[in-house]
Amino acid sequence: MSRAVPSAIMAVAEKAKALKAQGRDIISFSIGVPNFLPGEHVYAAAHQALDRDSGNYGSNRGPDGLLDAFLAHFKRNGFDGFERKNLCVGVGAKHVIFNVMYAILEEGDELILPAPYWTSHIDIARILGADIKVAYCGSEQDYKLTAAQLESLISPRTKLLVLNNPGNPTGMVYTEAEIRALGDVLSKHPHVWILSDDIYNQMIFDGLGWHHLLKTHPHLRDRVILLDSLSKTYGMPGWRVGVAAAPVELAQALVTLNSNHITNLPEVVCAAAIAALTGPQDIPQKMAGEFMAKRDEVMATFARIQGLSCPRPQGAFYAFPDVSFAFGKRHGAASITDDVDFCNVLLDAKGVACVPGSAFGEPKALRISYTCKAQELTEGLKRFEEFCSELH
Ligand SMILES: Cc1ncc(COP(=O)(O)O)c(C=O)c1O
Repeated sequence: MSRAVPSAIMAVAEKAKALKAQGRDIISFSIGVPNFLPGEHVYAAAHQALDRDSGNYGSNRGPDGLLDAFLAHFKRNGFDGFERKNLCVGVGAKHVIFNVMYAILEEGDELILPAPYWTSHIDIARILGADIKVAYCGSEQDYKLTAAQLESLISPRTKLLVLNNPGNPTGMVYTEAEIRALGDVLSKHPHVWILSDDIYNQMIFDGLGWHHLLKTHPHLRDRVILLDSLSKTYGMPGWRVGVAAAPVELAQALVTLNSNHITNLPEVVCAAAIAALTGPQDIPQKMAGEFMAKRDEVMATFARIQGLSCPRPQGAFYAFPDVSFAFGKRHGAASITDDVDFCNVLLDAKGVACVPGSAFGEPKALRISYTCKAQELTEGLKRFEEFCSELH
């Protein structure tokens, strides 16, 4: 437990919630929730499942109906050739990540993690005692891992690369050429597994498309774990449904782990998940459109703030501006020396909650999650801009 730390994102979200409860006017840009609800058909399926409760334990891998719905979902996205035996569900993607890392990593094994990283990727690897090789990808390279960086970090002890596309906290999306270049490197190192965390795959803007190692380099199939989740795509973060599509042996390892802790996902949750995956698919599309418009509003505000720079996010629902121009300045009597100060002073002065970039391995930046209501977003951005203009 000495290696385990609580989620930094949850800590900011809790603080914002506590201030709100005290009556403060708080706008939270902190937690990564999609902020929409699934369609009626999802709730109807859950109600029906309650009426038909089997009274039994369920499958450790996931019920056939849910596995088939995921297989169809993958097929829709151009991933053919998976079978039920390639899949294993979990209590959200976070749980699947834990299982995958637990299955692959021995203490001391090397894991390559591009920074900025999502907090749980590093936190889980730390808990497992992995030797984490962070590949720092600054804003000047649009926060994306390059093939040269990857090549230089792979050693005979490398077990796993975590690749997150679109990325949290940056919203960055890899182009086909960039994925291809990474795939070329990985092809040369057959001992490296790849955890491809693609849970924001339905939220890609500007007509860019979702490019994937399994498409550019199909032969990597025997060591790529494709990770997906219902949380962001279907507005179902609290339902806790994630899945891995992986080589059979790895999927079986995840099933074995499930059999020793969660046993199964609840029947009601599985029914709702099946309805979401097989029902109308216009919701994710519509939401991606809304998020893109919000991204534009965020970027328009940032463009007016002198000194602030931000690679243009092209997916997910985050922006990750470099706010280091503010370091060494003051707001009122409060001095700002780093990203944590920036976020604390901003929260105290303007009631706007953001997550410090150091939580993601980039202490020059902060993360804004911009899925809140349109009015709140506009007001929060106004306060953010005001705050920056008041720095001295
Ligand atoms: C990159 C990334 N992977 C995985 C997860 C976990 O998702 P889930 O809600 O399915 O556990 C998140 C959640 O924020 C995420 O941002």
